[in-house]
Amino acid sequence: MILPDQTIIRRLLYLAVLVLISFPLVTSGDDQQNDADDEEKVIFINDDENVFGVDSKNQLNVGSAGKLPVWDPFGYVMYCPCMGRFGNQAEQFLGSIAFAKALNRTLVVPPWRTYKNVPYDEFFKYEELQKAHKVILMEEFMEYLAPSHWQPGQRLGYCWLPRNSDQKCQMKKGSPFGPFWDAFNIDFDELVSYHVSSYVSGSEKDFSAFHEEWNSQFPVSEHPVFAFKGAPASFPVHPENRKYHQYMKWSDSIMSEVNAHIQQLFHGESFVGIHLRNGMDWDRACNHAEGRHNLMASPQCLERGQLLTRGMCYPTTPSILETTKAVVMKIQAKHVS
Ligand SMILES: *[C@@H]1O[C@H](CO)[C@@H](O)[C@H](O)[C@H]1NC(C)=O
Repeated sequence: MILPDQTIIRRLLYLAVLVLISFPLVTSGDDQQNDADDEEKVIFINDDENVFGVDSKNQLNVGSAGKLPVWDPFGYVMYCPCMGRFGNQAEQFLGSIAFAKALNRTLVVPPWRTYKNVPYDEFFKYEELQKAHKVILMEEFMEYLAPSHWQPGQRLGYCWLPRNSDQKCQMKKGSPFGPFWDAFNIDFDELVSYHVSSYVSGSEKDFSAFHEEWNSQFPVSEHPVFAFKGAPASFPVHPENRKYHQYMKWSDSIMSEVNAHIQQLFHGESFVGIHLRNGMDWDRACNHAEGRHNLMASPQCLERGQLLTRGMCYPTTPSILETTKAVVMKIQAKHVS
């Protein structure tokens, strides 16, 4: 197999990732339907030879088997990934790691939310995530810790609300809010609204002011478990928090599926895979792109101060063909998909 030029692959990946990550906000209505649509169009590209070449049967699954979790007296952060589909949830997940780090609380890792809850470790390697910060899978938290430390009657739900708002915190109203918590049989006994920002936008040296602000309002002694209505993180992810992406590695089962697809479609020959977001909804969303600093996940494509163009958001057919042709020629690809 001809190994494609890394920079080109990276650029394509970049494009694919941008497009993937940009999706969900626009069409968050019907998860199941949209996910099925996406599936047909998604082409997987993987530039990590280590992952690429490894036979999944040879990999050790360390996990947390055999060791029961112990209670962290520094507290927990739990939330519903209730905004958008996978890409949005992933971006907010990175910011949520930063939030938990800033407060030195254990992050209760939520399942991904599709039309159901999908445990984190079905998609990603949990043992990699453990290198980022202290974490516990939500399934394990509920099984091992909640019965003794977070029992029904003690469950506080936290919502951000504007100051002086007469709105009420509603943790479980609507979908996916209700079904997400219901899957764990969680009801809230009391609701707490907060008005300070939960967005950690600084680097680690700025954590202490943030920590102090939160801790003075919500000391861990009275608020051991923050259960947030939504991710305590911005969308798109703050650039400082992108670094946590390195701890998200696809699970072996996802990778073997990917490799099986690649093998079946391309028989080990070089290929270029493109994920084009070119439906009507996207066309429409891109009408708002021109001249903006920011549209969904666009910051990852822009240099500081650079503005978006419609062409970046929704490339013309000739420009797609031209770029594709250049990449195909460069790596002598046998397939375009
Ligand atoms: C953070 O929490 C851990 C326990 O999970 C504790 O050992 C450590 O001392 C804490 N760090 C700070 C700065 O409080």
